[in-house]
Amino acid sequence: MIANEGIGRFRMISKIPTLNAQGQGMRTYLSVFLLVLAFTAAAQEYARNGMVVSASQLASDVGVEILKDGGNAVDAAVATAFALAVTWPSAGNIGGGGFIVYRKHTGEVTTFDFREKAPAAATPTMYLDEHGNLIKDLNHLSALAVGVPGTVAGLYDAHRLYGKLPWSRVVRPAVRLARRGFAYTYGLYHDAIAHEQTWKKLPSTAAVMFRDGTTLYQPGEKWRQPDLARTLARIKRQGKAGFYSGKTAEKLVLFIQSQGGIITLKDLADYEARERKPVTGTYRGYEIYSMPPPSSGGITLIQMLNILEGFDLKTYGHNSATYVHVVSEAMRRGYANRALHLGDPDFNPDIPVDKLISKSYAEELRSTIKLDTVSVSDPAAFTQPYESPSTTHLSVVDKEGNAVSLTYTLEYAYGSQMVADGLGFFLNNEMGDFNPVPGVTNEDGLIGTAPNLIAPGKRMLSSMTPTILVKDGKLFMLIGSPGGRSIIGTVLQVILNVVDHEMDIATAIEAGRFYHQWLPNVIIHEKYSLSNDTRALLTELGHNMRRITQQGAAMGIVVDVSKGVLSGHADSRSPDGGVAGY
Ligand code: DON
Repeated sequence: MIANEGIGRFRMISKIPTLNAQGQGMRTYLSVFLLVLAFTAAAQEYARNGMVVSASQLASDVGVEILKDGGNAVDAAVATAFALAVTWPSAGNIGGGGFIVYRKHTGEVTTFDFREKAPAAATPTMYLDEHGNLIKDLNHLSALAVGVPGTVAGLYDAHRLYGKLPWSRVVRPAVRLARRGFAYTYGLYHDAIAHEQTWKKLPSTAAVMFRDGTTLYQPGEKWRQPDLARTLARIKRQGKAGFYSGKTAEKLVLFIQSQGGIITLKDLADYEARERKPVTGTYRGYEIYSMPPPSSGGITLIQMLNILEGFDLKTYGHNSATYVHVVSEAMRRGYANRALHLGDPDFNPDIPVDKLISKSYAEELRSTIKLDTVSVSDPAAFTQPYESPSTTHLSVVDKEGNAVSLTYTLEYAYGSQMVADGLGFFLNNEMGDFNPVPGVTNEDGLIGTAPNLIAPGKRMLSSMTPTILVKDGKLFMLIGSPGGRSIIGTVLQVILNVVDHEMDIATAIEAGRFYHQWLPNVIIHEKYSLSNDTRALLTELGHNMRRITQQGAAMGIVVDVSKGVLSGHADSRSPDGGVAGY
């Protein structure tokens, strides 16, 4: 373990001459900017009265119809989320969990935590063999990996407290999409090819995801999901009870237990979503509202923004070597504190939230960042568990200016890969977000620290970062993304792109991204995000570099109050994503 918090975990190593931000940095900036322009597939879209941005154009259309019908942002977000469970089932869900940040046009901000919970029979060592070793895949690809789902409870409570239209009106479009079907998309086809062999081994999944249970659907072909339609119809009629009790609950428990899982009817009946206060901060005059624990997103985002506020990022240039270095060092510090301190607040009452998001602590951390020096992440401390990329975010603004930023997930794409027999929806594998081996921390990605160990009824730590920005008391921006731990880095960079680099929302979202998650000690970056000379400078400075294809899929809206215009963009990294407005 480490002796002191924060600073002690970042030893200074290599020293080379300071990068010249105006010289090499600016050349890099120009070449990357051109790359970004070439890579920007879609322009932002505009609307005056209301807008929905999500990972599925069909689902965004559902949301905007609700707005036109007199619904508010909460109604539209709930309808869009249910529709995504039909049209974007890799992450859109009723079998998973997530978070909502909601800002009323009057300025109050609240959040909903509908993160999954560990079942009552869960134990800290449930994924270990008799020698104390982690059993491969048990916490990710098995019925034991399923957490008690939270989505239906969270959407229901948010709607009950803040929605305007009847519940049945906001669930109905999803029922129809499932019952009548819709044209199978290229995005779904692409995913199905990747998962074909796994799904073939699971009869209840194959029955839903393949034509006649055996053959891939083709793009353009009608895809109907009758079991899911019946489940959604029960939720439409009975509200939360249509999921957590009665037929749905009975079938769900029967299926999970038949596969070796431990979720009981009582676990379902006991599940409750929580309304929580947002975590708040400021950045260069913007107010930031984001998700508190059990998400690590808000605290870590605000901590990184506080650190970065003291650097002249604009002068460094977007994705110049100096910029990437400084932002990565801020991330390193934020992610280290995430691993050390954060977990379910109901089980960790002493999380030092005020300190972690304070300007004075950020100043302390900032003073350890040098332009000519790379810190190291102390491997004697601890590492973090693997989190895969599949989650989804949606942003909604209505005519009055109410705003919903919602991120939810099944954890992996299609979660545990298991469709509940006869119910038509995928079950999450969110238990994999807990630290699985108590006390054991190593370079392979295990972390054994206490705040995020498994306990009955506990919520696993998340990185989801649904966020809202306010400027001069007025709604300014909504943003969020999938991507596991990279989510916080993605949301951070879209904010920096808009605030520091003055990009419009489409350019800010499309721009190449990177992140540093403390351990492993490497800057992970998209293949088109950094030029070779930038990479070379960063390597020379002492950073480890790794290329990936894609980081996240952000869905954002910016409000131009002076013109009365909403501009939105669905990340082109999300194949079926789309903006709908009116
Ligand atoms: O809650 C979390 O942080 C993760 N389970 C999210 C996983 C994720 O984002 C995968 N997404 N693309």
